[in-house]
Amino acid sequence: MKPNVLLIEPMMPEAEAQLDAAYCVHRLYAAHDRAALIAAFGSSVRAIVTGGAHGASNEIVDSLPRLEIIAINGIGTDAVDLERARARSVRVTTTPDVLTEDVADMALALMLATSRRICVGDRFVRAGGWLHEHLPLAAKVSGKRLGILGLGQVGRAVARRAEGFGMQIAYCDRDPVAGAAYRFQPDLEQLAKDSDFLVIAASGGPATHDLVSRPVLDALGPTGVLINVARGSVVDEPALVAALAEGRLGGAGLDVFAHEPDVPKALWDMDNVVLQPHRASATVETRRAMADLVLANLAAHFAGREPVTPVV
Ligand code: 8YV
Repeated sequence: MKPNVLLIEPMMPEAEAQLDAAYCVHRLYAAHDRAALIAAFGSSVRAIVTGGAHGASNEIVDSLPRLEIIAINGIGTDAVDLERARARSVRVTTTPDVLTEDVADMALALMLATSRRICVGDRFVRAGGWLHEHLPLAAKVSGKRLGILGLGQVGRAVARRAEGFGMQIAYCDRDPVAGAAYRFQPDLEQLAKDSDFLVIAASGGPATHDLVSRPVLDALGPTGVLINVARGSVVDEPALVAALAEGRLGGAGLDVFAHEPDVPKALWDMDNVVLQPHRASATVETRRAMADLVLANLAAHFAGREPVTPVV
């Protein structure tokens, strides 16, 4: 009999077809009554497949007595209680490495789109504005000062790209990263003060919650730009909205938010803000590679082997 799998968020159609071929898939994301679906199948579910931001709540995990593995289609583990999983001997896997380059690409895209006002220009042309008006000048990116919060794989990939733009690069992390050629600044507020762009590439979770607070935003200042491709939880979102509304922060390029898919309405009308619906890893190539890892982790586990990319 095929193992029962609870699919919490959609994957690319080919991947879902592959999941269907090997497992009996219960789609929580499509259920009208989620509690009823869990009441009906929860006792037989042996695997959860989910995204990094959705993870799996303790309520769901606790309602699955035969759960053996949580396969995250992403790198973030902040929405899964790893200690609880460990205590129940539930394996947890992620999809490391394969999405690094895409997430870094998105960070650069947001830097360029925000400072060069790409979306403003696009809307201007489409509305016929170019026929009778001139747009105000934008701000330069090349050669500027870049601060990176979190010099993990994604942070380093952002830095590599920024080198190509002749940027002066510094970073903040718990400790200096061995072998990193960039300037280490342990004080985030000071890093923000010394930066034109602050890119958040740190993991979510209690250790980074609201780390980018009002003082950090004020240090980045009225010409500074905040880019977030990590987790909305790393930023004090009401403080960010207030800083933008009051002109204390120059702009923001945001792929992630505190309460996705809810994006604060105040941001919708701001021309100095570029918004994305959590799309940093959303390319065909990368989602294919992520799905391959999810499928490989499940296959290994159900064949009695060690998962390919376990975290627990
Ligand atoms: C994905 C992510 O968008 O890797 C993560 O943790 O949040 C993103 O890459 C997500 O996992 C797919 O929903």
